[in-house]
Amino acid sequence: MEGYQLLLLLFLHLLILFKPNHSARAKQRLGLEWKTFTCLGNPRIVESHNCYILDSDKSLITAEVKYLEDFDRFNATFRLSMPRPPFNEYHKLIDVTFDVCQFFKGSHRHKFIAITYKSMAKHSNMPMKCPQLKGFYFFRNISIGENLPAFLPETDFKIEFNFFTPTSTVFNTTLTGRLSEGVRKG
Ligand SMILES: *[C@@H]1O[C@H](CO)[C@@H](O)[C@H](O)[C@H]1NC(C)=O
Ligand SMILES: *[C@@H]1O[C@H](CO)[C@@H](O)[C@H](O)[C@H]1NC(C)=O
Ligand SMILES: *[C@@H]1O[C@H](CO)[C@@H](O)[C@H](O)[C@H]1NC(C)=O
Repeated sequence: MEGYQLLLLLFLHLLILFKPNHSARAKQRLGLEWKTFTCLGNPRIVESHNCYILDSDKSLITAEVKYLEDFDRFNATFRLSMPRPPFNEYHKLIDVTFDVCQFFKGSHRHKFIAITYKSMAKHSNMPMKCPQLKGFYFFRNISIGENLPAFLPETDFKIEFNFFTPTSTVFNTTLTGRLSEGVRKG
């Protein structure tokens, strides 16, 4: 499937998702299994971090990070890539840079990021506003699969979520996983 078709489906599905009958459709959803999750922190700003896939449930991930600085401006780049035949090299389907502080205020919300964010915020102690104060923050049991549209194809994919300020890179995360029927739940 071509990227634009996938985006179109994603968009159409999001429209459907917010109608009351979506629970019937949710049953057809593919399962998501994470394969790798790596984080890289700028050592000047990130004192420690811990990113892992849960052993007991490979659809869940946890990220913990300790910042040594406050941020009053904070941007992020979100990329979603999928392998393209015949050589299965990853190509980008979504590649957006956005202002995290503006995002907290509710503006410029890209739909896919809003989905990801919803899953991230569920078990998190990070206040959703700027400035972001230095300290220890966690995002536990992030379940992106729970909120993914049902019409995505079976595929491997990669997500890169990188955070930076106007002057430095702060924190990079890379996730690879697979959407398939084989790991469908329930
Ligand atoms: C994050 O990734 C970018 C490239 O996308 C790189 O320039 C930067 O150095 C990385 N930052 C860290 C903290 O690894
Ligand atoms: C995260 O999920 C695991 C496994 O399902 C569970 O044991 C744990 O209590 C959950 N933690 C939080 C913070 O929800
Ligand atoms: C952060 O995002 C805002 C809004 O997209 C943009 O105007 C600004 O140039 C970005 N800053 C950096 C350092 O990329």
